[in-house]
Amino acid sequence: MEYQSIQMSREGAIGRIQLYRPKVLNALNTGLISELVQALEAFDRDSTIRCILLTGGNRVFAAGADIGEMATATSAELMLSNQFADWDRLRRIKKPIVAAVVGYALGGGCELAMACDMIVAAENARFGQPEIDLGIIPGAGGTQRLTRAVGKARAMEIVLTGSPITAQEALHVGLVNRVVPVENVELEAMKLCQQIASKAPAAVQLAKESVLKSFDTTIADGLDYEQKLFYLLFSTEDQKEGMNAFVEKRKPHFQGK
Ligand code: CAA
Repeated sequence: MEYQSIQMSREGAIGRIQLYRPKVLNALNTGLISELVQALEAFDRDSTIRCILLTGGNRVFAAGADIGEMATATSAELMLSNQFADWDRLRRIKKPIVAAVVGYALGGGCELAMACDMIVAAENARFGQPEIDLGIIPGAGGTQRLTRAVGKARAMEIVLTGSPITAQEALHVGLVNRVVPVENVELEAMKLCQQIASKAPAAVQLAKESVLKSFDTTIADGLDYEQKLFYLLFSTEDQKEGMNAFVEKRKPHFQGK
């Protein structure tokens, strides 16, 4: 499939997607989001891919939803076109997604990074929700995922002032996993992907599912859910392989079965 606004490639078991609208700082128009979701779903269906790396390249992650595209929209148009339908599909991706963020991750760009499972940030990364300066609020998770990630006080400040936070602050408040020099971002994100890709794929997917479940359930229901997924993994060959390898003092060789 030919994409206009993203680039898709693979490195071993890692699927790589790069946002690619460099002239507008990777502004996320509906075409880009649609392509991104198609590419993610293709990697999700591909059993040879075990982890996904999402990058905006070495200058900017994404400066938000495409303002030009939205400027004249009406409420009815946005609602009836189901503006966020593709964004909703993003959260159904089962394989882990690691975001490599250089430069701005603003508005929808910050929301996209937060929709990923882990974030490796460059020292120059800036995370923010500047929608308030456009007379709107975040619409793709900026008030929800951000609050869960950094807590009410910080989220309120970021969303109500529109002022971005630095990579170091993002690390301090738990929004990102690590901060590295710009030139190492993709390498570090790739290392994280490779580490995950070496694990048993079913365990990885259910681990992701179970962690995400904790955001929208009570602790009691979440614990019950986790137990069911735990039991389920004992039906995989990789569970036998993992435990046998430990007992036999060798490295496990997981085959995704
Ligand atoms: N949408 C459309 N075009 C954008 C854009 C966006 N979000 N962000 C940047 N661009 C375009 C600019 O219009 C400019 O295009 P031209 O060269 O044709 O003029 C080009 O990208 C380069 O941008 P700047 O000249 O502004 O670059 P800068 O380095 O001076 O500033 C910036 C960078 C601070 C990120 C600034 O571009 C900016 O503030 N962008 C908008 C950020 C924003 O408000 N994002 C939220 C969008 S709304 C949203 O995301 C809603 C949601 O929740 C889904």
